[in-house]
Amino acid sequence: MAEQLIDKFNRVVDYVRISVTDRCDFRCVYCMSEEMTFLPRAQILSLEEIQLIAQAFVELGVSKIRLTGGEPLIRNGISQLVSTLSALPGLKELNMTSNGSQLPRLAKDLKAAGLNRLNISLDSLDEKRFKELTRSGDLSQVLNGIQAAKRQGFSHIKLNAVILKGRNDHEILALIDYIRQHQLDISFIEEMPLGQISEHDRQQTFMSSHEIRELIQEQHAMEKIDVSSGGPSEYWRFLDGHNSRVGFISPHSHNFCGSCNRVRLTAEGRLLLCLGNEHSVDLRAVVRQHPGELAPVKQAIRDAMLIKPERHYFNLAQEVKILRFMNTTGG
Ligand code: 5AD
Ligand code: SF4
Repeated sequence: MAEQLIDKFNRVVDYVRISVTDRCDFRCVYCMSEEMTFLPRAQILSLEEIQLIAQAFVELGVSKIRLTGGEPLIRNGISQLVSTLSALPGLKELNMTSNGSQLPRLAKDLKAAGLNRLNISLDSLDEKRFKELTRSGDLSQVLNGIQAAKRQGFSHIKLNAVILKGRNDHEILALIDYIRQHQLDISFIEEMPLGQISEHDRQQTFMSSHEIRELIQEQHAMEKIDVSSGGPSEYWRFLDGHNSRVGFISPHSHNFCGSCNRVRLTAEGRLLLCLGNEHSVDLRAVVRQHPGELAPVKQAIRDAMLIKPERHYFNLAQEVKILRFMNTTGG
């Protein structure tokens, strides 16, 4: 039988999220501080190193990979990387989370390279507020990116919206109208205390998935769909037959940790075993010590399973314990 990655708590790890860069053309207020220092080039995994590590994971039974960032589409050679990874035998799904800004330019190449699914971040449909939340983003570019992806035949495109009370919570129903009109799915995400930010107080702006869902249900009858993604999401569908799905991502709940199936690789090659803990293994050191060799990196990954934590706790009232920002973590 093919090998599987199994941790101390008998969870099968078959999903890896890979951050290909910590850089981004946006500066979302919940993700970054205004002034960010990015990693020097030499500290970032090369595309060859990412390919080697990805191959090691797939040979160890990983069947699903998501490329993230920062913004994955500003990494040079991204389409080539997608094309190499999508050809790995045993990989069933290769997906990407993007802010959409580069999709007008790249959607076609990504489709041709074999990318399966796209998640696109969109927190506002109002030009001014979009600019405020991303500090630099251009809404029309992202909306064009979404349409470009649809034209290339990407299906099940999912939007990700982080809702901050007092900032964009009054746009929840507009976002729902938008996905219904354009045949998209959406996930609403609770803000996580990753990285120290001063732009807002996360305790003040926190809006729970539960509150968001109740607000939507005042307008649209929905029922929960019985699927488990192994992650912190639950999905709902509309009772009027409309086939857009609405997801709610509640990282503050740790109920899902028991079925966690994923690990993350940071842009600098740290394998993070849990989003809310610092437990990690330096895979960059392994691939730089043994360039081009699969066996050592596979062994390092097997060993890492022993330190995957049972669960995480996030607490908005406490000081930020996780100092890494989302852009280095790989949303
Ligand atoms: N909390 C919740 N979501 C975040 N994202 C970035 N930073 C945070 C945070 N602190 C989201 C982005 C993107 C996804 C990859 O992660 O909006 O949709
Ligand atoms: Fe960039 Fe995504 Fe972070 Fe926004 S949330 S700054 S788009 S990486």
